Amino acid sequence: GEGEIVKAVMAFGLVGFLTGRVSQIKSIPTKPFEGQKTGTSGLRKKVRIFQQENYLANWIQVLVDLLRLVGDSTRGSSCFMFVFLQFQALFNSLPPEAFKDGVLVLGGDGRYFNQEAAQIIIKIAAGNGICKLLVGRDGLLSTPAVSAVIRKRKANGGFIMSASHNPGGPEYDWGIKFNYSSGQPAPESITDKIYGNTLSISEIKLADIPDVDLSSLGVTIYDGFSIEVIDPVTDYLELMEHVFDFQLIKDLLSRPDFSFIFDAMHAVTGGYAKPIFVDRLGANMDCILNGVPLEDFGHGHPDPNLTYAKELVDIMFGENAADLGAASDGDGDRNMILGRHFFITPSDSVAIIAAYAHKSIPYFQNGPKGLARSMPTSGALDQVAEKLNLPFYEVPTGWKFFGNLMDVGKLSICGEESFGTGSDHIREKDGIWAVLAWLSIIAFQNKDKKIGDKLISVADIARDHWATYGRNFFSRYDYEECESHGATKFIEHLRDLVSQAKSGQNYGNYTLQFADDFSYTDPVDDSVASKQGIRFVFTDGSRIIFRLSGTGSVGATIRFYVEQYEPDVAKHDMDAQIALKALIELALSLSKLEEFTGREKPTVIT
Ligand code: G6P
Ligand code: ZN
Repeated sequence: GEGEIVKAVMAFGLVGFLTGRVSQIKSIPTKPFEGQKTGTSGLRKKVRIFQQENYLANWIQVLVDLLRLVGDSTRGSSCFMFVFLQFQALFNSLPPEAFKDGVLVLGGDGRYFNQEAAQIIIKIAAGNGICKLLVGRDGLLSTPAVSAVIRKRKANGGFIMSASHNPGGPEYDWGIKFNYSSGQPAPESITDKIYGNTLSISEIKLADIPDVDLSSLGVTIYDGFSIEVIDPVTDYLELMEHVFDFQLIKDLLSRPDFSFIFDAMHAVTGGYAKPIFVDRLGANMDCILNGVPLEDFGHGHPDPNLTYAKELVDIMFGENAADLGAASDGDGDRNMILGRHFFITPSDSVAIIAAYAHKSIPYFQNGPKGLARSMPTSGALDQVAEKLNLPFYEVPTGWKFFGNLMDVGKLSICGEESFGTGSDHIREKDGIWAVLAWLSIIAFQNKDKKIGDKLISVADIARDHWATYGRNFFSRYDYEECESHGATKFIEHLRDLVSQAKSGQNYGNYTLQFADDFSYTDPVDDSVASKQGIRFVFTDGSRIIFRLSGTGSVGATIRFYVEQYEPDVAKHDMDAQIALKALIELALSLSKLEEFTGREKPTVIT
């Protein structure tokens, strides 16, 4: 019976207290799997890897074990106290009182294998003394929504079942991420510990309970262990209403002379777009493209960039372009912003949002506390920080590096060139937030315009921004699925170049200021992240950066990033590929990329 199961769960925690019931927890012997090391953003592999018996269960068990290790020293406390005290010891961030309502959140982007995975996670959670799980209906919750739910409900962490922007389906990718109590991705100290423990795991503890129906809202209780199925949108929408002036956006969207298209790419934001843009903000239903989340994203690659969001790009550069076009990725944390026949680079997007935030977004009405970007992201944001006299930080690639700065109140708005933009309203980047931010800026700029007046467009906003701050031309070249050996040699070659480089040396028309492999010391906890990307920085501020992607699942993906600052307004309308031609050629010749990889052309250019 259900009661017995719960007692058994308790028995496991309070060792020796209710010994008779442990049979309701199945102990399954298991063997370690190689390679359960998490990348930039969780554990990400082909679906068939995760489908191996116990592959996912091993990883979850290791994580849950880390959460409950302290149980032995706090014997006698309630089940979530013992579970989460250890958590506190690991993260050393919140006082024990903060854990008394301990809960974990579970959601995902709707991709293939999520349904099966959710049931595995639920049973292991129940089998290991975790007391409550909040699960998005049908297992759906965008990454930013998981972060929002963790924070709002003071949960102690959450699982996100997603491989983000990677394609889904039996032949493609699956992934799992763990975020902790502040709503941010687990730091490397934790993911390294998880990895270490995956190498010696020998037992999985599974509660012997039936599959839980996740299709309708409500609570299922197995005495102390409960599962609450929640609406994936409610908490998130409430937060967005707090951050933005919805009336301002509503007024813009109701104008007959303004049009908007949002491409959900058949991914998780399909579940958010209608309730937010249509039902709440009054946009037309036909403003949503690909709005139904599908397990294989409609055979698409749900990455909102110029290559993969082709349908939207074709519309926005065609005759029927809208005034604002936007897209979001598999799990809803990335975004792309387009104006009519105009692409806003993610690096410019965050800079423009930061420049307008205090005027058009109520959450920032007192001005942002600080700004930050990842190292390869262009310096456009630096210019804004300087002009507004705001604290500014440069962190390695990966959203998790922003979290500490936010937690101590040093950082409000940040972004990455990889189509990530967000703020301290949560601890993840946030695609829909970015779209609402742009809608707010456009609405604010046009709020006094009468019907018939020419509206200030996305392109006008960008050009005006460049005129004020200068333009940082930026481009990224990706070489996906390169053969790993060649990629390793390539990086070794670059490290050699760095070790020989001297400031003042000439590289074509550029003079080297310095070259290094980026290393970051977190100003809050002093943790060091080294080897985060090879940089060649020139005396005019131009940069060439090389790094290996941490998010691919096959072979190695090489990225290089080039950037050049242009203060001269007369040159701002140049095509970025033309403006950057000399730097791109320099990047290719210097790195001998073709020689090492056999690749003549990149797979994606942004
Ligand atoms: C994920 C992370 C981002 C990061 C990106 C880098 O999307 O959430 O914070 O910028 O990966 O990916 P890469 O493939 O360049 O390692
Ligand atoms: Zn994502």
